[in-house]
Amino acid sequence: MAKTLYVRSGSEEHELAVTDGTIRASDLRRISTDAGPLATYDPGLLNTASCRSSITYIDGDAGILEYRGYPIEQLAEKSTYLEVAYLLLKGELPNAAQLATWENEVNHHRLVHENAKDIITKSRYDSHPMGKLMSAVASLHAFYPSSRNITDACERELNMVRLLAKMPTLAAFAYRHSLGRNYVYPSDELGFVENFLSMLFKRQERHFIADERLVRAIDVLFILHADHEQNCSTNAVRAVASAGNDPYTSAVAGIAALFGPLHGGANEAVLKMLSEIGSVDRVPEFIEGVKAGQAKLMGFGHRVYKNYDPRARIIKKSADEVFEVTGVNPRLAIAQELERIALNDEYFVSRKLYPNVDFYSGLIYEALKFPPAMFTVMFAVPRTAGWVAQWQEGVLDPEQKITRPKQIYTGLRGRDYAALDAR
Ligand code: CMC
Repeated sequence: MAKTLYVRSGSEEHELAVTDGTIRASDLRRISTDAGPLATYDPGLLNTASCRSSITYIDGDAGILEYRGYPIEQLAEKSTYLEVAYLLLKGELPNAAQLATWENEVNHHRLVHENAKDIITKSRYDSHPMGKLMSAVASLHAFYPSSRNITDACERELNMVRLLAKMPTLAAFAYRHSLGRNYVYPSDELGFVENFLSMLFKRQERHFIADERLVRAIDVLFILHADHEQNCSTNAVRAVASAGNDPYTSAVAGIAALFGPLHGGANEAVLKMLSEIGSVDRVPEFIEGVKAGQAKLMGFGHRVYKNYDPRARIIKKSADEVFEVTGVNPRLAIAQELERIALNDEYFVSRKLYPNVDFYSGLIYEALKFPPAMFTVMFAVPRTAGWVAQWQEGVLDPEQKITRPKQIYTGLRGRDYAALDAR
């Protein structure tokens, strides 16, 4: 039902249409203030919708996450990452023939240009793999210059597929570069996840055979990380895309945003926190420190979820399956104790702070022998599906404009330039 918001400003009354639970911020301009037309002030965009989207639905209070209307729990149980990528991009689940064609298409594009690989090779051996990944992805538009033609549907599709396909290859190269190992090229004989594991872990054996339970666990982790509506990195992708950029250039913004410890870097920060705590008996002392504002409980809290993050519940199950293969990560007991105490503590309960997706994912990656620096890379690879789907939706949305927020200016005005010797 259409609603109207009545705003009284001095002697004037204004009617603002309320649509989909929002008012148009530009309608506020009709209301004048001493500082000019009325605007909203929203650091961090806490209460501002920046787009219409039909990709991912989240109800943070109820702990619900759906991709194109399908609950994450069902997708995690029954689907695969590549199928979910198709769903995110095209809006529907593929039939058997469409899925086979899609898998072929993506897998066909897994190789990267040797010079793109060299960008990784030429970086410092100990540089962060997210930095290597960012540089290599930034270079891709140079190898595929027609990707800049974002009004051409075929170019859009081709370059989104290329990016999806090449991310695991570049991620694996970044990993092996830091170990000084030879690069393992993609294999046509292996599916998406098996091939990724082979590019990461293959040594001298003729054929790399990954444990099926690990393949499934990574597939599930990838499904859970594939999209999360307008989070920090997706917003960065859309902002860069809004200036008319190709998917590679736009994805670099996403990788950069994801790198931050408050976003995708949180799983790395969780492991650091667990190792600093060191043992279960030191958990109460650490929790007291968090409550006194000395530290954050990393892997807890979320801008949107004010309930248990549904992804965290599924990851917990995956963690048990991975530990069946790798043996239990000794830090698991510390994490469980943190969760147990926090979920019963007034500080966390009153602020609705629950474990998020990053709380247990780092433990899985550590059990798989990834160094902590690789954890965020393991987030960036699957999030590419969401980035390209959101990139495309933004590019095709006639309501979208170049992103350009307002500011409240707090600096000085109208000063005269003083010569150097007069300062
Ligand atoms: N540990 C301790 N206190 C916390 C935490 C935490 N992890 N998170 C929030 N709070 C407190 C915060 O200090 C504030 O308390 P007060 O009202 O007394 O000032 C209150 O809870 C509300 O927090 P906020 O900072 O206003 O919440 P936000 O929505 O701006 O921040 C967040 C969300 C994810 C940045 C934050 O919860 C956080 O820093 N968590 C730790 C980092 C983390 O795990 N990030 C991964 C997020 S999930 C992956 C992803 O989607 O990127």
